[in-house]
Amino acid sequence: MKNRIIILFTLVSLFAKADEGMWMPQLIQALNISDMKKNGFKLTAEQIYSINKASMKDAVAIFGGGCTAEVISTKGLILTNHHCGFSSIAGLSTVQNDYLKNGYWAMKAEEELPCPGLTVTFIKRIDDVTTKVFENIKPTFSEIQKDSAIQANIKVLEALAKKDSHFDAFIRPFYYGNEYYLFVIETFKDIRLVGTPPESIGKFGGETDNWVWPRHNADFSMFRIYSNKENKPADFNNGNIPYVPIHSFPISLKGIEKGDFTMVYGFPGKTQEYLTSYAVDLLINQQDPIRVGLREKRLNILDADMKKNDTIRLMYTAKYAGVANYYKKWSGEMIGLEKSDAINKKKKQEAEFLTLVSADPKKAELYKNLFIEFKRTYTEYAPLSKQFDYFTECLWGVEAFKFSSAFINVFSELKLKQQGKENKFDAVYKATKPAIPFKNFNKETDRKICKAMLETYVANIDREFMPRFLDSLLTVHNGNVIALTDFLYNNSSFVDNEKAKAMFSDFEKNAALYERDPMYLLASSILVHYQKTVIPQIGYYDRQINELQKVYMKGLIENVKTKKFYPDANSTLRVSFGKVADYQPRDGVAYLHYTTIDGMVDKNKTGLEDFYVKPRLIELFEKKDFGQYADKNGKLRIAFTGSNHTTGGNSGSPVINANGELIGTNFDRNWEGTMSDVMYNGDFCRNIVLDVRFTLWIVDKYAGAGYLLNEMKLIK
Ligand code: ARG
Ligand code: GLU
Repeated sequence: MKNRIIILFTLVSLFAKADEGMWMPQLIQALNISDMKKNGFKLTAEQIYSINKASMKDAVAIFGGGCTAEVISTKGLILTNHHCGFSSIAGLSTVQNDYLKNGYWAMKAEEELPCPGLTVTFIKRIDDVTTKVFENIKPTFSEIQKDSAIQANIKVLEALAKKDSHFDAFIRPFYYGNEYYLFVIETFKDIRLVGTPPESIGKFGGETDNWVWPRHNADFSMFRIYSNKENKPADFNNGNIPYVPIHSFPISLKGIEKGDFTMVYGFPGKTQEYLTSYAVDLLINQQDPIRVGLREKRLNILDADMKKNDTIRLMYTAKYAGVANYYKKWSGEMIGLEKSDAINKKKKQEAEFLTLVSADPKKAELYKNLFIEFKRTYTEYAPLSKQFDYFTECLWGVEAFKFSSAFINVFSELKLKQQGKENKFDAVYKATKPAIPFKNFNKETDRKICKAMLETYVANIDREFMPRFLDSLLTVHNGNVIALTDFLYNNSSFVDNEKAKAMFSDFEKNAALYERDPMYLLASSILVHYQKTVIPQIGYYDRQINELQKVYMKGLIENVKTKKFYPDANSTLRVSFGKVADYQPRDGVAYLHYTTIDGMVDKNKTGLEDFYVKPRLIELFEKKDFGQYADKNGKLRIAFTGSNHTTGGNSGSPVINANGELIGTNFDRNWEGTMSDVMYNGDFCRNIVLDVRFTLWIVDKYAGAGYLLNEMKLIK
């Protein structure tokens, strides 16, 4: 008995860390509210999530594909990150009106710019549907049978939930499929850009500062939700009116201090906190190094070409940012996990779990092979994972391969058309055909990437695993990838502006000829090869791993009674709570928990391109006209760090104080703490937040759009 208590105690210390967790809002009353109150939270769980009354959840939305936004006025004004609004802002920009470069502010309603394709989604209700999802699943079912029965139940339940309403619904697994929850959602489709600072402010620090603290960029943009006259979602229409939200966040101008309660409410994308030592081993010793190494090669080539030529720089800036973002994240994660001795910590957790369940012979029997199975599965999975990474991060890093392979569908639809059968040729062709001249593609840059990627591929992947056509092309070129690449780029119509123009002018007529294009032939054969071999096998192992994780997860929840387990992030609504916190990145170094405009100006003085700002910012800084946005000591703060457990998807999330007031917008994490997706550590994992006072200072003083503040509720 005494033993048991000691074991439980160490398990608690291994699993439960202060401020760790991304909690489901509907369970806060049951699980978290007392901890939150202890940390200073002053409101009730019902004020965070309620289905009967207005609550904070009604002011938190999915923004576009994968970000969060918050409602900050009674007229549907929403706040998110600049990098979340980036593609919409870029889409509205032209060479004459470059809103990325110059920023944009509507000075009246008519100047708000519709963003085609952009959506904003609210959660109306979250229901536990676990029992219903498992209905009619017999214990005799095989895993595949179980899976398809579950999928069938899910379809029925989703349809039932949206029946006769303008709402939509989806069901997601939680705790590796031990539980299922239904989300009823409302999606608005008429979203307009209200304003954005110039990139020099929104993305100040560029790639240099990305994932890095101390930080000085105002990563925000503002949009407005429009609805029909009934306050319901509608497609874009001039007659639409600003949406009247159920709740909007009051904004605190009072500022924050170290230790203050903070809560992040948003849509974190993916975490894997319950991985075993075998998975972490694979991650830091194979997956992360491969992915990081391949991206580094690509980035070096892009960087050199972008530095040489402004046209190329513009072509590749967004792509570069995308590749660089996770390159940097993975390298931080790898180093963080190694430094934290993550594999051994996980091993210890596993051993302690087995000791814990060993007290009960039935349980001991149930779990005795669990980790042996994990080990076996990961051993078999590792070489496949390598194959897969060399497909997605290496071959598919070559843009010509990616986009010419997309023509597989075009050719097959065209065949149907030519046979007089029903077909989607016109739509597929239109969607696949690139703009000529290529908008963001430079043949010579891609050629360099292709040479480097093929070289790496050939050096690391055994001939027997290669797509057969690639193997024969290599044979034809005596294994010389340079010659092979030149053959492709010199002869293909898919990568050359002139040839592509000619091809698209007579595409239908001469399709049979273009179907024999060497680039197309190689790219499509690579895709088909991976679709037929590696991808299904990866799927098979993913399912096996998920099954094992499901057992482990259930074992943890049922046996480690002293600990509350939060489900891994899965792009659903979550609450993380913690506090304003500083940290020590390494021995002898301590960071403050906030930055000010002084630091922005200092960085600007280095003259480095990433720290460029327009003269207006420096002028305003010198005037020191910080007004109501200044901190007590007169300084203008920009960003702060917190101990909130966040991940990708939390970008744009509202950061809320103890009174439910907005104090900032989440936009990044510290590099040393990117490992929190796998193992959160409260000592140094930090989220990075834009102080809302700086946001409002930019709107008011820099952009002269202070009229927007009239519709907000400011707490002074
Ligand atoms: N690291 C942040 C996130 O994961 C910001 C990314 C955009 N900014 C950039 N400089 N690439 O999304
Ligand atoms: N920048 C990330 C995003 O776009 C948030 C940073 C993180 O991964 O925590 O969601």
